[in-house]
Amino acid sequence: MTAIPSPTITLNSGHDIPQLGFGVFKVDPDETERIVSDALEVGYRHLDTAKIYGNEAGVGRAIAKSGIAREELFVTTKLWNDDQTDPEGAFQRSLEELGLDYVDLYLIHWPVAERGTYVDAWKGLQAIAESGRARSVGVSNFQPKHLDAILAEGGILPAVNQVELHPAFQQWELRDYLGPKGIHVESWGPLGQGKYELNELPGLQGIADAHGKSVQQVAIRWHLQEGLIVFPKSSSKERIAQNADVFDFELSDDELDVIRKADQNRRVGGHPDEIN
Ligand SMILES: NC(=O)c1ccc[n+]([C@@H]2O[C@H](COP(=O)([O-])OP(=O)(O)OC[C@H]3O[C@@H](n4cnc5c(N)ncnc54)[C@H](OP(=O)(O)O)[C@@H]3O)[C@@H](O)[C@H]2O)c1
Repeated sequence: MTAIPSPTITLNSGHDIPQLGFGVFKVDPDETERIVSDALEVGYRHLDTAKIYGNEAGVGRAIAKSGIAREELFVTTKLWNDDQTDPEGAFQRSLEELGLDYVDLYLIHWPVAERGTYVDAWKGLQAIAESGRARSVGVSNFQPKHLDAILAEGGILPAVNQVELHPAFQQWELRDYLGPKGIHVESWGPLGQGKYELNELPGLQGIADAHGKSVQQVAIRWHLQEGLIVFPKSSSKERIAQNADVFDFELSDDELDVIRKADQNRRVGGHPDEIN
């Protein structure tokens, strides 16, 4: 099985992450093994799951069946909100579900700031990183105020912040805050979770037509050229393959600019202050 020619990004932990991966949010646990096997066959080597998705075991079975060497894979999972008071226990359960002895990246899924537990949870993730069982650790859905709170404690810098980011919601303010700190941005919902039509955005269909690609492929290419880490989800093998077929064209500076101007500050998922 040949890997897709995804570039890699070196995280501040020193570890490399394939910039294009495969996400499994809302992939039915009963279908996860088959769908992740399809993704591995297409050539994805970076998988993004979470305890709350309920499908870590299916991801693990697909990995085991694939015969792909562990070091060729990059696996991310996440600490669920209810487990912030016991990151070590939750992490061990995730490893068991996945059937792995380490993950490449472990993230705090949401700050759930009202609970007042994320700073201690972050200390737990640092201990896990120091033990080598997570090669890198990071956060998800953190705003600058949450990052400021964990950075004030010192210790390991989060490798990434995984946030909602797509052409209609480009998160420039947050990206400008994270960039100088060396914290990489991962885009969740990179296709807007299918909650709006990408071709509603001015210029996107024209760019897609000019390259003989779909608007989804243009969006994925845009994330890559913006330096973002991206892992679109699909349950269809055809679309899984389509989403990886983005390495034979390049968006021009003018096209990148057209997409940049299509930003509508339009969230399709939950606001971090409202998830508690
Ligand atoms: N940290 C967080 O809080 C958080 C939150 C959400 C997601 N995530 C992660 O980010 C990953 C990606 O985000 P997401 O799954 O929410 O949304 P997404 O990847 O933006 O969109 C997935 C939707 O787009 C459709 N789709 C995929 N490829 C397509 C194509 N080529 N043409 C047309 N439609 C296409 C899929 O339908 P089909 O399946 O029918 O193809 C599905 O409905 C997740 O799987 C998860 O790993 C993290």
